[in-house]
Amino acid sequence: MLIAGNWKMHKAAPDEARALSESVVDAVGAPEVQVAVCPPFTGLAAAAEALDGAPVHLGAQNMHAEGEGAFTGEVPAGALRAYDCRYVILGHSERRAYYGETDDDVAEKARQALRRELVPIVCVGESLEERRDGRAQDVVARQVQTALDGLPIGDPSRLVVAYEPIWAIGTGESAEPEQAQEMHAFIRETLIEQHGESVGGAVQILYGGSMKPHNAEALLAQPDINGGLIGSASLEGESFAGIVEAGEQVT
Ligand code: 13P
Repeated sequence: MLIAGNWKMHKAAPDEARALSESVVDAVGAPEVQVAVCPPFTGLAAAAEALDGAPVHLGAQNMHAEGEGAFTGEVPAGALRAYDCRYVILGHSERRAYYGETDDDVAEKARQALRRELVPIVCVGESLEERRDGRAQDVVARQVQTALDGLPIGDPSRLVVAYEPIWAIGTGESAEPEQAQEMHAFIRETLIEQHGESVGGAVQILYGGSMKPHNAEALLAQPDINGGLIGSASLEGESFAGIVEAGEQVT
């Protein structure tokens, strides 16, 4: 079980990132599940200091697929490792929608993340229109297949997949637990087809989209929901810790 906070473009200044990291460390105590926070790049150094020795991992929200070069404004995987990042979120729907990231981009980044010993948290999920048209599984299958086909994973702990239906992100309307479970089971089958039972059967699949302390337990109790990728509820230590506690209840 992994509960990861995606701070998006919040708490980006060092002081803010430090304060929220400290508050998360205080609030989660000695968690019985895996916990991570993913600040913006400019908050990583301060967050890394605040998390030093604490049972909370660090992650980033994006990276470039190349190791270095003339890519103005971009950040390579190696630099994230230097901040002790364990995770990197890839292919979030906001990056796909606002910055034109494609499945192929996500595939290249995921390959590079693995090379640099980062654990990619690969985000997939359909829009409301795609769900209404009955295409949700087709869309998610394409995203998973393109991003992860042929990826040399080897060990299931080297990859995390996050199912984030776009219609549930930032809307306060989470997917129903059974509805999310249905898609998670489908993603699980797809991962097993791609990577075999021993890897595909054990990769953590997180749910993201308006997960809050009040609805987390029902979602996390589903058999193929192995954690959460939390947006707005990760921006305060107490609410994030409430979701961590829900995870502890069901494990
Ligand atoms: P919210 O929890 O704010 O809906 O955001 C979810 C998300 O996009 C996490 O990556």
